[in-house]
Amino acid sequence: MTVRVLVTRQLPAGGLDPLVEAGVEIVQRADDTPFTPADLADAAAGVDAVVCVLTDRVDAEVLQAARDRLRAVGNVAVGYDNIDVRAATELGIAVCNTPGVLDETTADVAFLLLLAAARRASDAEADLRQGRWTGFGMGNFLGTDVHGRTLGLVGYGRIGRAVARRAEGFGMVVLHHTRRDTGVDGWMANLDDLLARVDAVSLHVPLTPETTGLIDARRLALMQPHAVLVNTARGPVVDEAALADALERGTIFGAGIDVYEREPQVHPKLLAAPHAVLLPHIGSATEQTRRRMAQVACEGVLAVLAGNEPDNLVRA
Ligand code: DGY
Repeated sequence: MTVRVLVTRQLPAGGLDPLVEAGVEIVQRADDTPFTPADLADAAAGVDAVVCVLTDRVDAEVLQAARDRLRAVGNVAVGYDNIDVRAATELGIAVCNTPGVLDETTADVAFLLLLAAARRASDAEADLRQGRWTGFGMGNFLGTDVHGRTLGLVGYGRIGRAVARRAEGFGMVVLHHTRRDTGVDGWMANLDDLLARVDAVSLHVPLTPETTGLIDARRLALMQPHAVLVNTARGPVVDEAALADALERGTIFGAGIDVYEREPQVHPKLLAAPHAVLLPHIGSATEQTRRRMAQVACEGVLAVLAGNEPDNLVRA
């Protein structure tokens, strides 16, 4: 029987090369319309593997519908909170993600957001574009320094460490919080203590029940008035309304945000909040990185279909 792989979205040129080279049948819509959950369940039922993106909800229902044939799901993302990995594992369906290939690219965007929020780049550019700039002024668009300050990383995986390397180049002191001691200098056991101490915070945790709402009103209130919050992880890690309030009241200085609680919606209060730099989930969005992510997801499912255990297998 021909091996069939469903690819749920259009992927960057070259991203499907591993599937093409393997000679499998690629099942794909002609356009980039996202699958509804019901359509995804139908389509997944007729294939051996699915290559999907983080907006596809591969829940227990989809997996149940596809269980007779489906053997592997490759998520073109490092985060896999859109997939019910436990249900997949119980059904003998392997899940793969894309670790290691987007760390530097995502860290670039985290640092971009830190600099842009601290230096008010969005506000300043918007004023210029809208004709409100009346000329140089000593008091115009005053931001807050990044170089030489203290950065707190929440989560210290590959992306967090890539951000730390950039921060060191800016002469920053880098502290980090993880639940378990990393054994690396700068580890802080207590998240609240870290938030109260640093000048900037960058989030690098996966979305889990424990990290949902991790940065809430209480924790935002611990941060210093000149501090900047950066989120390139997952939107629901931050309470967006509470963040908007903190910016509005000036209890923190700024925020650089790439991910949102209910993408593609952004809380209206956050859209209106001062000193917020808001990007549309582009952390890994370079041609090179997105192509490699697609290839890694494809390679993972092909390995599973060949009876091997890929390095990028996700464990429940
Ligand atoms: C991921 O891989 O999880 C990112 O959010 C995609 O940019």
